Amino acid sequence: VDRRESLYIVSNYAAKFFANKMWNSEAGKTIGLSYFKERGFREDIIKKFELGFSPDDWNALLDAAVADGFKQEFLEETGLVIKNDLGRIYDRFRGRVMFPIHNFTGRIIGFGGRTLKTDKAVPKYVNSPESDIYHKSSVLYGLFQAKKAIRDFDNCYLVEGYADVLSVQQAGVENVVASSGTSLTVEQIRLIGRFTKSVTILYDGDAAGIKASLRGLDMILEEGLDVKIVLFPDGHDPDSYIQQLGADTFKTHVEKNKKDFIFFKTEILLKDAGKDPIKRAGVIREVVESIAKIPDAIKASVFLRECSNLLQMEERILISELNKMKLGKA
Ligand code: UTP
Ligand code: MN
Ligand code: MN
Ligand code: MN
Ligand code: MN
Repeated sequence: VDRRESLYIVSNYAAKFFANKMWNSEAGKTIGLSYFKERGFREDIIKKFELGFSPDDWNALLDAAVADGFKQEFLEETGLVIKNDLGRIYDRFRGRVMFPIHNFTGRIIGFGGRTLKTDKAVPKYVNSPESDIYHKSSVLYGLFQAKKAIRDFDNCYLVEGYADVLSVQQAGVENVVASSGTSLTVEQIRLIGRFTKSVTILYDGDAAGIKASLRGLDMILEEGLDVKIVLFPDGHDPDSYIQQLGADTFKTHVEKNKKDFIFFKTEILLKDAGKDPIKRAGVIREVVESIAKIPDAIKASVFLRECSNLLQMEERILISELNKMKLGKA
Protein backbone atom coordinates (compact mmCIF):
# COMPACT_ATOMS: atom_id res chain seq x y z
CA VAL A 1 0.00 0.00 0.00
CA ASP A 2 1.18 3.53 -0.71
CA ARG A 3 1.69 6.19 1.92
CA ARG A 4 -1.58 8.02 1.38
CA GLU A 5 -3.47 4.76 1.57
CA SER A 6 -1.78 4.11 4.92
CA LEU A 7 -3.01 7.47 6.18
CA TYR A 8 -6.59 6.62 5.19
CA ILE A 9 -6.31 3.29 6.93
CA VAL A 10 -4.97 4.72 10.16
CA SER A 11 -7.67 7.43 10.14
CA ASN A 12 -10.32 4.78 9.72
CA TYR A 13 -8.75 2.81 12.55
CA ALA A 14 -8.86 5.89 14.79
CA ALA A 15 -12.53 6.53 14.02
CA LYS A 16 -13.38 2.95 14.94
CA PHE A 17 -11.28 3.29 18.09
CA PHE A 18 -13.09 6.48 19.19
CA ALA A 19 -16.53 5.02 18.39
CA ASN A 20 -15.72 1.82 20.25
CA LYS A 21 -14.56 3.82 23.28
CA MET A 22 -17.77 5.83 23.27
CA TRP A 23 -20.18 2.92 22.98
CA ASN A 24 -18.30 0.37 25.08
CA SER A 25 -16.11 2.00 27.73
CA GLU A 26 -17.44 3.29 31.02
CA ALA A 27 -16.07 6.83 30.52
CA GLY A 28 -17.21 6.82 26.92
CA LYS A 29 -20.77 5.99 27.86
CA THR A 30 -21.10 8.26 30.86
CA ILE A 31 -19.17 11.21 29.47
CA GLY A 32 -19.17 11.03 25.66
CA LEU A 33 -22.42 9.34 24.68
CA SER A 34 -24.39 11.08 27.39
CA TYR A 35 -23.02 14.43 26.18
CA PHE A 36 -24.43 13.82 22.71
CA LYS A 37 -27.72 12.58 24.14
CA GLU A 38 -28.05 15.58 26.43
CA ARG A 39 -27.60 17.79 23.38
CA GLY A 40 -30.55 16.00 21.84
CA PHE A 41 -28.82 13.85 19.25
CA ARG A 42 -30.51 10.53 18.46
CA GLU A 43 -28.59 7.27 18.23
CA ASP A 44 -29.27 6.90 14.51
CA ILE A 45 -27.61 10.26 13.84
CA ILE A 46 -24.71 9.49 16.20
CA LYS A 47 -24.14 6.28 14.25
CA LYS A 48 -24.67 7.80 10.82
CA PHE A 49 -21.85 10.29 11.49
CA GLU A 50 -19.71 7.69 13.30
CA LEU A 51 -19.25 9.97 16.31
CA GLY A 52 -16.96 8.90 19.10
CA PHE A 53 -15.08 9.75 22.26
CA SER A 54 -11.34 10.11 22.84
CA PRO A 55 -10.25 8.89 26.30
CA ASP A 56 -8.69 11.46 28.60
CA ASP A 57 -5.28 9.77 28.47
CA TRP A 58 -2.01 10.85 26.90
CA ASN A 59 -1.48 7.69 24.84
CA ALA A 60 -4.75 5.81 24.53
CA LEU A 61 -4.89 5.85 20.73
CA LEU A 62 -1.15 5.66 20.23
CA ASP A 63 -0.78 2.53 22.40
CA ALA A 64 -3.75 0.77 20.85
CA ALA A 65 -2.67 1.55 17.30
CA VAL A 66 0.93 0.50 17.83
CA ALA A 67 -0.23 -2.73 19.51
CA ASP A 68 -2.37 -3.35 16.42
CA GLY A 69 0.66 -2.99 14.19
CA PHE A 70 0.37 0.61 12.96
CA LYS A 71 3.53 2.57 12.39
CA GLN A 72 3.92 5.60 14.60
CA GLU A 73 4.96 7.68 11.60
CA PHE A 74 1.49 7.42 10.02
CA LEU A 75 -0.16 8.46 13.27
CA GLU A 76 2.11 11.49 13.31
CA GLU A 77 1.48 12.35 9.67
CA THR A 78 -2.27 12.45 10.19
CA GLY A 79 -1.75 14.53 13.33
CA LEU A 80 -3.54 11.95 15.45
CA VAL A 81 -0.48 11.94 17.63
CA ILE A 82 1.88 14.82 18.24
CA LYS A 83 5.60 14.74 18.87
CA ASN A 84 6.73 17.83 20.76
CA ASP A 85 10.11 19.55 20.80
CA LEU A 86 11.29 17.36 23.67
CA GLY A 87 10.51 14.28 21.61
CA ARG A 88 7.57 13.41 23.83
CA ILE A 89 4.73 11.83 21.94
CA TYR A 90 1.02 12.03 22.82
CA ASP A 91 -2.52 11.83 21.43
CA ARG A 92 -3.87 15.07 19.94
CA PHE A 93 -7.45 14.30 20.97
CA ARG A 94 -7.97 13.65 24.67
CA GLY A 95 -11.23 13.69 26.57
CA ARG A 96 -13.19 15.11 23.65
CA VAL A 97 -16.23 14.01 21.71
CA MET A 98 -15.12 13.16 18.22
CA PHE A 99 -16.52 14.07 14.81
CA PRO A 100 -14.81 12.12 12.00
CA ILE A 101 -14.50 14.13 8.79
CA HIS A 102 -15.14 12.18 5.59
CA ASN A 103 -14.21 13.12 2.08
CA PHE A 104 -17.12 12.94 -0.33
CA THR A 105 -16.35 9.35 -1.25
CA GLY A 106 -16.75 8.42 2.40
CA ARG A 107 -13.19 7.90 3.52
CA ILE A 108 -12.18 9.37 6.85
CA ILE A 109 -9.52 12.02 6.41
CA GLY A 110 -9.54 13.98 9.67
CA PHE A 111 -11.34 14.79 12.91
CA GLY A 112 -12.89 17.55 14.90
CA GLY A 113 -12.89 17.06 18.65
CA ARG A 114 -15.12 19.10 20.96
CA THR A 115 -14.22 19.79 24.54
CA LEU A 116 -16.70 18.86 27.27
CA LYS A 117 -15.44 21.65 29.48
CA THR A 118 -17.10 25.02 29.72
CA ASP A 119 -13.77 26.63 30.61
CA LYS A 120 -13.24 29.47 28.12
CA ALA A 121 -9.46 28.98 28.17
CA VAL A 122 -9.83 25.55 26.52
CA PRO A 123 -10.29 25.66 22.75
CA LYS A 124 -13.85 24.51 21.95
CA TYR A 125 -12.83 22.45 18.95
CA VAL A 126 -9.49 20.90 18.12
CA ASN A 127 -9.18 19.84 14.48
CA SER A 128 -6.81 17.61 12.57
CA PRO A 129 -3.94 19.51 10.96
CA GLU A 130 -3.38 19.54 7.21
CA SER A 131 -1.96 16.27 5.94
CA ASP A 132 -1.51 14.52 2.63
CA ILE A 133 -5.10 13.30 2.86
CA TYR A 134 -6.70 16.27 4.66
CA HIS A 135 -6.85 19.69 3.06
CA LYS A 136 -9.41 21.58 5.08
CA SER A 137 -10.01 24.26 2.44
CA SER A 138 -11.38 21.66 0.04
CA VAL A 139 -13.50 19.61 2.44
CA LEU A 140 -17.12 20.06 3.43
CA TYR A 141 -18.23 18.36 6.61
CA GLY A 142 -21.25 16.16 5.99
CA LEU A 143 -21.00 16.09 2.20
CA PHE A 144 -20.66 12.33 2.08
CA GLN A 145 -23.87 11.89 4.06
CA ALA A 146 -25.62 14.71 2.15
CA LYS A 147 -24.62 14.31 -1.48
CA LYS A 148 -27.51 12.17 -2.65
CA ALA A 149 -30.06 14.51 -1.06
CA ILE A 150 -28.26 17.54 -2.51
CA ARG A 151 -28.68 16.07 -5.99
CA ASP A 152 -32.27 14.97 -5.36
CA PHE A 153 -33.38 18.37 -4.02
CA ASP A 154 -31.02 20.29 -6.29
CA ASN A 155 -30.06 22.48 -3.34
CA CYS A 156 -27.41 22.54 -0.64
CA TYR A 157 -27.85 24.06 2.81
CA LEU A 158 -24.62 25.52 4.12
CA VAL A 159 -24.13 25.80 7.89
CA GLU A 160 -21.19 26.80 10.10
CA GLY A 161 -20.57 23.86 12.36
CA TYR A 162 -20.53 20.16 13.04
CA ALA A 163 -23.48 20.27 15.44
CA ASP A 164 -25.54 22.23 12.92
CA VAL A 165 -25.07 19.49 10.34
CA LEU A 166 -26.19 16.85 12.83
CA SER A 167 -29.28 18.72 13.99
CA VAL A 168 -30.39 19.72 10.51
CA GLN A 169 -29.98 16.09 9.34
CA GLN A 170 -31.86 14.93 12.41
CA ALA A 171 -34.68 17.32 11.49
CA GLY A 172 -35.00 15.32 8.28
CA VAL A 173 -33.24 17.85 6.06
CA GLU A 174 -30.41 15.78 4.64
CA ASN A 175 -28.94 18.16 2.06
CA VAL A 176 -26.69 20.01 4.48
CA VAL A 177 -22.93 20.61 4.76
CA ALA A 178 -20.62 22.76 6.89
CA SER A 179 -17.46 24.61 6.00
CA SER A 180 -16.23 23.69 9.51
CA GLY A 181 -13.08 25.19 10.87
CA THR A 182 -12.46 27.55 7.97
CA SER A 183 -14.20 30.42 6.29
CA LEU A 184 -15.85 29.36 3.06
CA THR A 185 -13.41 28.76 0.20
CA VAL A 186 -13.70 28.75 -3.58
CA GLU A 187 -12.75 25.05 -3.62
CA GLN A 188 -15.63 24.25 -1.28
CA ILE A 189 -18.08 26.13 -3.50
CA ARG A 190 -16.82 24.30 -6.59
CA LEU A 191 -17.25 21.03 -4.73
CA ILE A 192 -20.89 21.90 -4.02
CA GLY A 193 -21.20 22.89 -7.67
CA ARG A 194 -20.58 19.29 -8.70
CA PHE A 195 -23.88 18.34 -7.05
CA THR A 196 -26.10 21.42 -7.40
CA LYS A 197 -26.04 25.03 -8.60
CA SER A 198 -28.14 26.27 -5.71
CA VAL A 199 -26.94 27.10 -2.18
CA THR A 200 -28.90 28.28 0.86
CA ILE A 201 -26.76 29.80 3.62
CA LEU A 202 -27.87 29.07 7.21
CA TYR A 203 -25.16 30.70 9.28
CA ASP A 204 -25.28 31.65 12.95
CA GLY A 205 -27.54 34.54 13.91
CA ASP A 206 -24.78 36.77 15.22
CA ALA A 207 -22.61 39.55 13.82
CA ALA A 208 -19.95 37.07 12.70
CA GLY A 209 -22.57 34.93 10.94
CA ILE A 210 -24.00 37.92 9.08
CA LYS A 211 -20.55 39.06 8.01
CA ALA A 212 -19.68 35.54 6.82
CA SER A 213 -22.99 35.37 4.92
CA LEU A 214 -22.24 38.60 3.05
CA ARG A 215 -18.77 37.34 2.15
CA GLY A 216 -20.07 33.88 1.24
CA LEU A 217 -22.83 35.12 -1.04
CA ASP A 218 -20.39 37.14 -3.15
CA MET A 219 -18.10 34.15 -3.52
CA ILE A 220 -20.98 31.85 -4.43
CA LEU A 221 -22.30 34.31 -7.03
CA GLU A 222 -18.83 34.61 -8.50
CA GLU A 223 -18.73 30.85 -9.05
CA GLY A 224 -21.99 31.11 -10.98
CA LEU A 225 -24.20 29.44 -8.38
CA ASP A 226 -27.51 30.78 -7.08
CA VAL A 227 -27.62 31.75 -3.43
CA LYS A 228 -30.27 32.40 -0.81
CA ILE A 229 -29.80 33.31 2.84
CA VAL A 230 -31.76 32.55 6.00
CA LEU A 231 -31.06 34.55 9.14
CA PHE A 232 -31.64 33.04 12.57
CA PRO A 233 -32.63 35.04 15.63
CA ASP A 234 -29.62 36.53 17.39
CA GLY A 235 -27.79 34.02 19.52
CA HIS A 236 -29.19 31.01 17.66
CA ASP A 237 -27.50 28.72 15.21
CA PRO A 238 -29.45 26.07 13.26
CA ASP A 239 -28.57 23.47 15.91
CA SER A 240 -29.73 25.48 18.92
CA TYR A 241 -32.85 26.59 17.02
CA ILE A 242 -33.84 23.03 16.16
CA GLN A 243 -33.05 21.64 19.60
CA GLN A 244 -35.03 24.41 21.29
CA LEU A 245 -37.95 24.88 18.92
CA GLY A 246 -38.21 21.62 17.01
CA ALA A 247 -37.87 20.41 13.44
CA ASP A 248 -41.21 21.77 12.18
CA THR A 249 -40.62 25.29 13.48
CA PHE A 250 -37.15 25.17 11.93
CA LYS A 251 -38.47 24.16 8.51
CA THR A 252 -41.16 26.84 8.66
CA HIS A 253 -38.56 29.42 9.68
CA VAL A 254 -36.35 28.49 6.75
CA GLU A 255 -39.19 28.70 4.24
CA LYS A 256 -40.53 31.98 5.62
CA ASN A 257 -37.19 33.73 5.99
CA LYS A 258 -35.34 32.51 2.92
CA LYS A 259 -34.22 35.65 1.09
CA ASP A 260 -32.52 36.09 -2.19
CA PHE A 261 -29.19 37.84 -1.89
CA ILE A 262 -30.52 41.22 -2.98
CA PHE A 263 -33.20 41.35 -0.30
CA PHE A 264 -30.78 40.02 2.28
CA LYS A 265 -27.98 42.42 1.50
CA THR A 266 -30.27 45.41 1.07
CA GLU A 267 -32.05 44.75 4.34
CA ILE A 268 -28.84 44.30 6.31
CA LEU A 269 -27.13 47.35 4.86
CA LEU A 270 -30.15 49.66 4.94
CA LYS A 271 -30.53 49.01 8.66
CA ASP A 272 -27.13 50.60 9.17
CA ALA A 273 -27.70 53.39 6.66
CA GLY A 274 -30.92 54.69 8.23
CA LYS A 275 -32.27 57.74 6.40
CA ASP A 276 -28.93 59.22 5.39
CA PRO A 277 -29.12 59.62 1.58
CA ILE A 278 -25.38 59.32 1.07
CA LYS A 279 -25.27 56.08 3.03
CA ARG A 280 -28.30 54.82 1.10
CA ALA A 281 -26.48 55.49 -2.15
CA GLY A 282 -23.60 53.44 -0.74
CA VAL A 283 -25.99 50.57 -0.14
CA ILE A 284 -27.13 50.63 -3.75
CA ARG A 285 -23.55 50.58 -4.90
CA GLU A 286 -22.71 47.61 -2.69
CA VAL A 287 -25.69 45.61 -3.91
CA VAL A 288 -24.74 46.35 -7.51
CA GLU A 289 -21.23 45.18 -6.65
CA SER A 290 -22.63 41.77 -5.78
CA ILE A 291 -24.63 41.68 -8.99
CA ALA A 292 -21.48 42.53 -10.93
CA LYS A 293 -19.99 39.25 -9.73
CA ILE A 294 -22.61 37.14 -11.52
CA PRO A 295 -20.97 35.71 -14.66
CA ASP A 296 -24.27 35.16 -16.49
CA ALA A 297 -25.31 38.51 -18.05
CA ILE A 298 -28.98 37.60 -18.38
CA LYS A 299 -29.24 36.61 -14.74
CA ALA A 300 -27.42 39.77 -13.75
CA SER A 301 -29.91 41.92 -15.63
CA VAL A 302 -32.84 40.20 -13.93
CA PHE A 303 -31.33 40.95 -10.54
CA LEU A 304 -30.59 44.49 -11.58
CA ARG A 305 -34.29 45.01 -12.30
CA GLU A 306 -35.18 43.57 -8.89
CA CYS A 307 -32.67 45.90 -7.31
CA SER A 308 -34.11 48.85 -9.17
CA ASN A 309 -37.61 48.07 -7.91
CA LEU A 310 -36.52 47.43 -4.36
CA LEU A 311 -34.34 50.50 -3.99
CA GLN A 312 -36.46 52.84 -6.12
CA MET A 313 -33.58 53.64 -8.38
CA GLU A 314 -33.74 53.99 -12.14
CA GLU A 315 -32.56 50.89 -13.87
CA ARG A 316 -30.43 52.68 -16.44
CA ILE A 317 -28.36 54.26 -13.67
CA LEU A 318 -27.80 50.85 -12.12
CA ILE A 319 -26.83 49.42 -15.49
CA SER A 320 -24.30 52.15 -16.02
CA GLU A 321 -22.87 51.57 -12.51
CA LEU A 322 -22.68 47.86 -13.18
CA ASN A 323 -20.85 48.40 -16.44
CA LYS A 324 -18.39 50.73 -14.79
CA MET A 325 -17.69 48.11 -12.14
CA LYS A 326 -17.19 45.43 -14.72
CA LEU A 327 -14.64 47.60 -16.42
CA GLY A 328 -12.94 48.09 -13.06
CA LYS A 329 -13.59 51.84 -13.05
CA ALA A 330 -15.76 52.03 -9.96
P1 UTP B 1 -19.18 27.82 16.59
O1 UTP B 1 -18.41 28.58 17.57
O2 UTP B 1 -20.42 28.41 16.03
O3 UTP B 1 -19.43 26.43 17.28
O4 UTP B 1 -18.19 27.42 15.41
P2 UTP B 1 -20.67 25.43 17.15
O5 UTP B 1 -20.48 24.58 15.92
O6 UTP B 1 -21.95 26.15 17.27
O7 UTP B 1 -20.35 24.50 18.39
P3 UTP B 1 -21.28 23.98 19.55
O8 UTP B 1 -22.70 24.05 19.13
O9 UTP B 1 -20.99 24.84 20.74
O10 UTP B 1 -20.78 22.59 19.76
C1 UTP B 1 -18.61 26.89 14.18
C2 UTP B 1 -17.59 25.89 13.68
O11 UTP B 1 -16.30 26.49 13.60
C3 UTP B 1 -15.29 25.55 13.91
C4 UTP B 1 -16.01 24.23 14.16
O12 UTP B 1 -16.05 23.52 12.94
C5 UTP B 1 -17.40 24.68 14.59
O13 UTP B 1 -18.37 23.67 14.39
N1 UTP B 1 -14.56 25.91 15.14
C6 UTP B 1 -15.13 26.62 16.15
C7 UTP B 1 -13.27 25.43 15.29
O14 UTP B 1 -12.74 24.76 14.39
N2 UTP B 1 -12.59 25.71 16.44
C8 UTP B 1 -13.15 26.41 17.48
O15 UTP B 1 -12.49 26.60 18.53
C9 UTP B 1 -14.44 26.89 17.31
MN1 MN C 1 -1.89 16.58 -0.95
MN1 MN D 1 -20.57 31.22 15.80
MN1 MN E 1 -22.52 27.92 16.10
MN1 MN F 1 -23.77 25.55 18.14
